Amino acid sequence: MGSITFSKAMTRLTVLGALLPLALHATATAPDPVCLQIQKVISRASAVFLPGDEHYASGIAHWASSSSQNSTCVMEPGSSKDVAAVLRIVGQHETPFAVKGGGHASNVGFSSTTGVQIAMSRFSDVKYDAHSQTAEIGAGLVWDDVYAALEPHNVSVVGGRVSGIGVAGFTLGGGYSWLTNQHGLTVDTVVAYELVKPNGQVGVVTEASDPDLFFALKGGFNNFGIVTKFTLKTFPSTGIWGGFQFIAGSDIAQNTAAVADFCANVKDPKANIIADYGFVSGQPIMSQILFYDGPNPPAGIFDKLLAVPTMLADVSSRSMTSFIKAVPLGTAGLRITSHTVPVLQFTPSLLNIIANESAFWGNQLAPKGAQLVTYAIEPFQADIFKRNPDKTAYPPVRDAVFLPLNLYFAWLPPQSDDDFHAAVIASGDVIRKAALAEGQDITNGPLYPNYALSETPLSAMYGKNVAELHRIKKIVDPKNVMGLAGGFKF
Ligand SMILES: Cc1cc2nc3c(=O)[nH]c(=O)nc-3n(C[C@H](O)[C@H](O)[C@H](O)COP(=O)(O)OP(=O)(O)OC[C@H]3O[C@@H](n4cnc5c(N)ncnc54)[C@H](O)[C@@H]3O)c2cc1C
Ligand SMILES: *[C@@H]1O[C@H](CO)[C@@H](O)[C@H](O)[C@H]1NC(C)=O
Ligand SMILES: *[C@@H]1O[C@H](CO)[C@@H](O)[C@H](O)[C@H]1NC(C)=O
Ligand SMILES: *[C@@H]1O[C@H](CO)[C@@H](O)[C@H](O)[C@H]1NC(C)=O
Repeated sequence: MGSITFSKAMTRLTVLGALLPLALHATATAPDPVCLQIQKVISRASAVFLPGDEHYASGIAHWASSSSQNSTCVMEPGSSKDVAAVLRIVGQHETPFAVKGGGHASNVGFSSTTGVQIAMSRFSDVKYDAHSQTAEIGAGLVWDDVYAALEPHNVSVVGGRVSGIGVAGFTLGGGYSWLTNQHGLTVDTVVAYELVKPNGQVGVVTEASDPDLFFALKGGFNNFGIVTKFTLKTFPSTGIWGGFQFIAGSDIAQNTAAVADFCANVKDPKANIIADYGFVSGQPIMSQILFYDGPNPPAGIFDKLLAVPTMLADVSSRSMTSFIKAVPLGTAGLRITSHTVPVLQFTPSLLNIIANESAFWGNQLAPKGAQLVTYAIEPFQADIFKRNPDKTAYPPVRDAVFLPLNLYFAWLPPQSDDDFHAAVIASGDVIRKAALAEGQDITNGPLYPNYALSETPLSAMYGKNVAELHRIKKIVDPKNVMGLAGGFKF
């Protein structure tokens, strides 16, 4: 998704962002009794940090400052047994808690809390098994580390597309990847979950061991317990081609034509792009990522995109880790809202409407402290679910492929929160109506949960699967322990 930004404009923000943690001073209140009880029962593999402690700030930190909350303590579990112990204690006391993987949720309270923050960072192993062509991946990792660990084995996974994204939230919500055209979403490639159930039982969930729970975990986030490890299919990989381009406002028309051409005509499943219509520092700008799963894309595929003049670009044959590092992102610490509109096709007219939305809201929101107003065009092939037909909680429909357009707005002043929230909804409505007016049948298109606003109804994301997910939830978590954690709730 979006949010790659012109790096020079962001330098000032990086500096501000780096200073923020200094402002976090512990106040001299008594430690929370629930935190003290957790501290007493956990093994030496785990730790509890109170406000002011060394790991507290990183434990509650999120990519979006608007998603961070001050918890009573941070618990870093180092074993699934200790995860079970924490669930038992918060369940007994009905203490709110949160589970954080990479901390990239932009909805407040999804992986943050004013109660007990569980930070999964100690689950950080990657174990590749050449025989089964799978990898066991700790739930505290970000994809950068996973790619780095798998690269020496010449394999890769269907994982994150930019730097810093957590394995856990990405995989528990769906997972649109550079390899999605070939292998489906990340949920389509999970073969096992190591799960701590809400009743404290630790087990491995597979299609064979528990088909209902296996289905529910493929999109159902933290409703069914805490995942400590994912086993994913791996795929051969010996280098990729790709990188980024920044395109000035004056060249956006030419680029839009090239993007529309790519969306309509490129059928090679190894090729993919993200084209981002943005508005940064008072200017329209496009940032774009090109990807080919192989060191040399066949001639023709990217010619039109590469012919567009750029302000800055870095596209080459390289390793996956070099690619992930090369694509510049905005800084952490901005307030962020993310929204999505499912569309069937990025036509030239729809792209023009999206470009206009970006410029319109960029201007409108500039006085409110806008840093980024971006719309990420993420085209995928129309047969990705036909070739990966297994039932998953998300997406609820597999006979059509809805493309998850991502609206992603970032700002600084907290008092502007309501303005940005209202704007992202208004803009989403304009795009939705425009797609419908073009004859795109998107009425039943599911919204991608990992991009959706927190108030999105379950039926808008999980469609016909909602009743089934409610049923499974009742069996796995009759006392609704996981209801003490935020997020979309069954
Ligand atoms: C810059 C950026 C780029 C992105 N790019 C993409 C992309 O290319 N494709 C895509 O599909 N999405 C993308 N996303 C969306 C991303 O998938 C979600 O933000 C995702 O939830 C992030 O996972 P995380 O572990 O970092 O999040 P977190 O905030 O840590 O967690 C998100 C949710 O998962 C739950 N959770 C986390 N760990 C566990 C666990 N161990 N057990 C149970 N529940 C858990 C949390 O409680 C929370 O509800 C992007 C987001 C950003 C900000
Ligand atoms: C967290 O606490 C610090 C220090 O007391 C305070 O400056 C900050 O505003 C608090 N953050 C939130 C989100 O409440
Ligand atoms: C990975 O590929 C490289 C280049 O093709 C090769 O030299 C190396 O031996 C391979 N490594 C493994 C573990 O197969
Ligand atoms: C641009 O978008 C705004 C806001 O949706 C709308 O009012 C305006 O008519 C649009 N302009 C064009 C040329 O489409």
